[in-house]
Amino acid sequence: MQVDVAVIGAGAAGMMCAATAAQRGKRVVLIDHAEKLAEKIRISGGGRCNFTNINAGPANFLSENPHFAKSALSRFTPHDFLALVKKYRIAFHEKHKGQLFCDDSAEQIINMLRAECDNGGVQWRMPSKVQSVQQNAAGFHLQTEHGDIHAAAVVIATGGLSIPKIGATDFGYRVAKQFGLKLVDPRPALVPLTFDENEWKPFVPLAGVSLEVDVETGSLKGRNATGARFREDLLFTHRGLSGPAILQISSFWQPNTPIVINLLPELDLAQTLIEGKSTIKKQLGNVLSQYLPSRLAEGLLQAHGYAHDARIADMPDAKLRKLGELINRWTITPNGSEGYRKAEVTRGGVDTKELSQQSMMVNKVPGLYFIGETVDVTGWLGGYNFQWAWASGVAAGLAI
Ligand code: FDA
Repeated sequence: MQVDVAVIGAGAAGMMCAATAAQRGKRVVLIDHAEKLAEKIRISGGGRCNFTNINAGPANFLSENPHFAKSALSRFTPHDFLALVKKYRIAFHEKHKGQLFCDDSAEQIINMLRAECDNGGVQWRMPSKVQSVQQNAAGFHLQTEHGDIHAAAVVIATGGLSIPKIGATDFGYRVAKQFGLKLVDPRPALVPLTFDENEWKPFVPLAGVSLEVDVETGSLKGRNATGARFREDLLFTHRGLSGPAILQISSFWQPNTPIVINLLPELDLAQTLIEGKSTIKKQLGNVLSQYLPSRLAEGLLQAHGYAHDARIADMPDAKLRKLGELINRWTITPNGSEGYRKAEVTRGGVDTKELSQQSMMVNKVPGLYFIGETVDVTGWLGGYNFQWAWASGVAAGLAI
């Protein structure tokens, strides 16, 4: 088979790229090894696909080069994707902080992208494994389990390593290495964090408790700050912490460093307790339960060795200050994460220095492109990763 473009990986970025190139008149083949099309879109957003974030901008992405994503993101914006969603009459709603979800099902986004590919006459090779990608004088020669493909250009859109059980592989990184490209070390991101089993034991009974917190990690100061702070919901689990707050901070967290959680972001607890000593006659447990879910209040007092029935009026200021610190600046060091099994995305990937930010083409290998999650561009939680998949897919699709 002879084509202009072979796109490997029929996920979010691959379908967008294939449709864009095919609608410009290119002969495009889209190859994927999975039995079922776009499983990650199907399971995304709890089955409703948080398909973009209306506020998405370069500041919502992590990369060794924070400027790299600017060009693609500005040329295909959340409004452009929304226009497509509206064209297909897919009902949607805004849930939280600009996150747009389908009212009904993520399946509608898959059908829309499939229809866009079909409109351009994209040829499908699925399920089909790609055995090798070789460059030659005419472009590229792909060996697949269903025959050879000769293509002038190849787009690698095989995504990251998260959720191997639905088909994630390191194919993109292997091709990058084969062509001598640098990789930024891949690691799980948007992932629950875990703690040493013994250290976590006192908090195990809190599994299931959820509340809004501030969470931060790393340095927040200066122009080159590497840390971050988020206000989102936190969820206690049997092995550690999860919920949007933790998924967000996990992308910034560095091993062997702490995260700091403010369990009562709207209240200075120590000051409130100390100032109220003369008027607050109640027991510590009852007072804390006014501000926090009572299971959490009780659990935290127990875990930190405070008696539920201690009378606030009798407690030394220093002890109240210590308690305030434990609630307003709970500082804990994760021992790791739940890994690729649970991670929503992979941080790192093909070093952006190797790619053109306009076209996603490899600078030193004309005709070879990397898009979507294979590239070292990782979005926050909240529709940003799909926006990168669409935008980088369109950038390559228009350039090929
Ligand atoms: P994607 O993973 O979509 O596609 C890669 C494709 O390549 C797959 O079809 C795979 O089968 C194929 N492939 C892999 N190896 C191959 C090989 N060797 N040969 C052939 N084909 C191969 N983001 C967001 O913005 N909003 C959301 O709501 C969510 N929700 C969400 C939930 C869960 C549970 C997860 C795991 C992830 C999300 N995400 C998300 C992240 C989002 O799904 C992800 O960033 C994009 O799907 C990345 O798009 P890509 O096209 O790069 O990879």
